[in-house]
Amino acid sequence: MIRIAFFDTKDYDRASFERLANKDNIEYKFLDTKLTEDTAELANGCDVVCVFVNDTVNKAVIDKLYGYGIKMIALRCAGYNNVDVQAAYGKIHVVHVPAYSPYAVAEHAAALLLTSIRRIHKAYNRTRDFNFSLNGLTGFDLHGKTVGVVGTGKIGRIFIDICRGFGMNVIAYDRYPAKDSGIDYVTLDELFERSDIISLHCPLTDETRHMIDGSAIEKMKKGVVILNTSRGALIDAEALLAGIKARKVGAACLDVYEEEADIFFEDRSGHILNDELLSRLISMPNVIVTSHQAFLTEEALNNIAETTLSNIGSYFENDGLCDNELCYRCGNIEQCKKERKEKCF
Ligand code: NAI
Repeated sequence: MIRIAFFDTKDYDRASFERLANKDNIEYKFLDTKLTEDTAELANGCDVVCVFVNDTVNKAVIDKLYGYGIKMIALRCAGYNNVDVQAAYGKIHVVHVPAYSPYAVAEHAAALLLTSIRRIHKAYNRTRDFNFSLNGLTGFDLHGKTVGVVGTGKIGRIFIDICRGFGMNVIAYDRYPAKDSGIDYVTLDELFERSDIISLHCPLTDETRHMIDGSAIEKMKKGVVILNTSRGALIDAEALLAGIKARKVGAACLDVYEEEADIFFEDRSGHILNDELLSRLISMPNVIVTSHQAFLTEEALNNIAETTLSNIGSYFENDGLCDNELCYRCGNIEQCKKERKEKCF
């Protein structure tokens, strides 16, 4: 029997994982709480810890889990910036779900963009109040506008295809440009200068943290629309707010927020929000916030459950070799994944 401590469980996770699990060899311990140093003990007696984007998987947590005999940390998401993979190396295997539905995220970015520039969020509220006035709802055509896409991986490329469907000019920046992709790559500065719309689809790393800061915003066109469905800390939210207040940034659509960990995924209506910056951003008429929802489609949830269970099975039932293992052996996680032929440790 493989026992899985499932942190930060929501109803939709429970449904998709229970539907797929073989009840003869998998036992879930579903926990509402997030994984932290204080809650790690709840995994005692389990074999696997299953975590999501806002769980804390730092060295202290990893050492505790190792002490409890945890053999695997199974991320049910793609991004692993919340996991100290280096600290886990040699102790606990870390696996993730590299792709579950890049369409879900790219389509959500497009939904946010259309909602924002055609003021659908405003119109929806107005007509519910039988207010049929059009004043203040003027939008702009996407056709002919320039969109700058940062990160041309799985999600970025689908977003590019969607934008081309609208007749937009697409320019892109990627640290590792894809060869023969037909994508018009430019420098990051050029992308900031030329884009009417900027959409972020790169991972959060030391290099990309606050890539949109005050000086980046200064370089942008007046009225630029900024979309972030990637990771909150790609944007310095203080600088974004300043750009909005200065009327430089025309609109911002945020599915992620740097300090989301203690806020998103929970019903906080009826409570006073302590995060002044987020409150101020939400109060802006040209800011749309969704709470890390871009992944949330039926297809994505099924794929997440399927891949996570197969990742876990590869360790316990097969030879221990898992394509989706995040290993620090060579110091370069992505490169190591491509060249791996044997168990990491
Ligand atoms: P991917 O790995 O396929 O593509 C990432 C791209 O970013 C690659 O082309 C890579 O070369 C590029 N990149 C790496 N470092 C860069 C840098 N310093 N500057 C510019 N580009 C750089 O990843 P995928 O699947 O397209 O996901 C992108 C991001 O979307 C993830 O890192 C994750 O943070 C986010 N995401 C958000 C979700 C949500 O629900 N809001 C769900 C899934 C992913």
